[in-house]
Amino acid sequence: MKTTVKNNVSWVGYIDWELETFHGDEYSIFNGSSQNAYLIQEGKTVLIDTVWAPHRTEYVENLKREIDLKDIDFIVANHGEVDHSGALSELMKEIPGTPIYCTANAVKSLEGQYGKNGWNFKVVKTGDSVDVGNGKKLIFVEMMMLHWPDSMATYLTEDNILFSNDAFGQHYAVEELFNDKADQCLLEKEAMKYYTNILNPFSPFVSKKIKEIVALGLPIDIIAPSHGAIWRDNPMQIVEKYAQWAEEYQEDQLTIVYDTMWEGTAKIAHRIASTAREAFPDTVVKVFNCAKTNKNEIMTEVFKSRAIAVGSPTVGNDILTSVAGWTHFLKSLKFKNKKAAAFGCYGWSGESVKLLQEKLSDAGFSVVDASIRTQWNPDEEALATAGVLIEELLK
Ligand code: FEO
Repeated sequence: MKTTVKNNVSWVGYIDWELETFHGDEYSIFNGSSQNAYLIQEGKTVLIDTVWAPHRTEYVENLKREIDLKDIDFIVANHGEVDHSGALSELMKEIPGTPIYCTANAVKSLEGQYGKNGWNFKVVKTGDSVDVGNGKKLIFVEMMMLHWPDSMATYLTEDNILFSNDAFGQHYAVEELFNDKADQCLLEKEAMKYYTNILNPFSPFVSKKIKEIVALGLPIDIIAPSHGAIWRDNPMQIVEKYAQWAEEYQEDQLTIVYDTMWEGTAKIAHRIASTAREAFPDTVVKVFNCAKTNKNEIMTEVFKSRAIAVGSPTVGNDILTSVAGWTHFLKSLKFKNKKAAAFGCYGWSGESVKLLQEKLSDAGFSVVDASIRTQWNPDEEALATAGVLIEELLK
């Protein structure tokens, strides 16, 4: 069912309340999501993006209830990733030859995924535009690496709507569609989780692109992303957040992440937390067992942190697989300007702390000299060294 976004612009996407993971199982979804697609009915009828393949039939059938598909003058494919292009093949069966406006990289993406079907691509670059009638036009803005090489945003003049695709989105189902109708705590949390886990590795591109968009001087009344709430109430709030988040963002927070075999490393984790609480009472301290808490949620806490402490006992001359997988993911998110420390207990060989320090350094963290490495269960003497570790981490 279509819903009016503004004037002759409608939402024609899919709200996915049942979705549990995204990007395979790489991204957890706890509050649903949506694949937003939009229909512009001015002098020209324009479709912006489609939905994920499992919903392709429903998407096309819904469109047919609203319009004669043959009335679609052209399609804008802001991004070739399958959650936005998954219904394109189904649609193009009905209206072959309909022009598809997209970037040169999107042609590679769409042909790579769906084959060379003779689709009528119209390749566009930043600043190119196309009239949609009634004095309005669409202006295209390449969004390379936000978050794929082919990503693009499309701006509708007069209505001042920026169809930003993945940028400024959230994996968050909002049946009422708009940010002012959403749960504000969840909206901010999901927007930050999305930025951390999807866009943070590309932060230098985000900073540059935001400056470029602001320099264009286009008035923006609505930001309509391809996932989650549409920003109509103070839409620039999310642009301002992105500008902050892209610049080595941190709050006054320490996040402690560990896994444990016989509770020795857990004991150290909690002593580090209580020591930090006493020594730095203004600092927010959070503790997570990475074998039990979802990795995307923990990474969002790391994003907010100025320092982290990571712990694993030694097992098989190595660290626990839960911590190994977690630190592997940590590296891929390319955090900057954060300190880190390592800790762990052991029975005989005790390599975990050194290995963790190497992994944290490799992940771009500034690793402090202090660590807590203790044989058997940590005694009071070992636990008391948390004071030195905290000083080095948070001073
Ligand atoms: Fe929402 Fe990059 O796809």
